[in-house]
Amino acid sequence: MHNSAIAHLGCVICHRGALRLHAVIHWQTSAEVQTGITSCAYCGATFPIREGILDLLLPDSLAQLNLANRSNHLAPIAWGYEDLWRRRSLALLSGRPFSNEQELDLVSRMFFSSLPPPAQEGTKLFLDLACSTALYARGLARRLPPTSTTANSTEIIAIDNAWPMLKMAQAKLTHQPYDTIPISLVRADAANLPFLKGTLHGVVCGGSLNEFNHPQAVLQELTRVLSPGAPAVTMSLLQASSSMLQSWVQSAISNTSGIKFWTAPKIRQMFQNAGFRLLEEQILGIVAVQNWQAL
Ligand SMILES: C[S@@+](CC[C@H](N)C(=O)[O-])C[C@H]1O[C@@H](n2cnc3c(N)ncnc32)[C@H](O)[C@@H]1O
Ligand SMILES: [Zn+2]
Repeated sequence: MHNSAIAHLGCVICHRGALRLHAVIHWQTSAEVQTGITSCAYCGATFPIREGILDLLLPDSLAQLNLANRSNHLAPIAWGYEDLWRRRSLALLSGRPFSNEQELDLVSRMFFSSLPPPAQEGTKLFLDLACSTALYARGLARRLPPTSTTANSTEIIAIDNAWPMLKMAQAKLTHQPYDTIPISLVRADAANLPFLKGTLHGVVCGGSLNEFNHPQAVLQELTRVLSPGAPAVTMSLLQASSSMLQSWVQSAISNTSGIKFWTAPKIRQMFQNAGFRLLEEQILGIVAVQNWQAL
């Protein structure tokens, strides 16, 4: 957990105070805390940093996990997720060659092209929401346009509620360190984000809308924390319309795992209801990559 990111985060209990570093037990590097305690400057609630990950998940948040959510909490699933499944998944689902690098190029191009010009100097705070192994956070960090001054620095926060996924993300970050752009890992609930109102400058979210238990609550939470005009680039899976077999497989997946599939118009309506406007959309088979703007 990068020390520089902590003060940009907000309390998940009172939503009024910023977090601050309360105590450090072990430093991982001179800039990163391995074990320590953070606290809310307003209500005083404390939250631990364990194994380099800030833990902001409240005790009842994991009470209602669907089967798909629960599988992400198993270490072997987290271990194989990116290298065995994620690398191939979009090509399989879109029915055309679609590597992770092509996906990251597309998501990053949409994201950076719609960032509003900075109104004032200061840190830009970006979120990889429901990050699993932080593929999008790493992709954004590699493609971030260089910033000229330290006054215009960037922090990337990668959030998931599954500890084994965050541990895998950490292993990947250790092997490919992004020295110039800090990526910090946080365990939290997508429907209760650790940011104060209007303080987040952009979000990317790959494939997770389909998996959230309460997607509309997550979208509303995003509009609370995003600054007006900030981009939200999402990759979601659409309801299959072309083949009976695909539709049958999707409804079997929905019924057993809790993963939901919607049509593109339904997704547009969900975002519009939450307070987003669609800037750009690319539909590749059943994969939709969409660029939203918080109003
Ligand atoms: C399909 S994976 C997407 C992973 C990643 N975004 C990517 O592009 O590879 C969905 C992730 O969402 C996480 N997740 C599901 N519900 C969540 C919630 N309410 N809060 C935080 N993370 C959640 C799961 O643990 C899982 O890692
Ligand atoms: Zn608080």
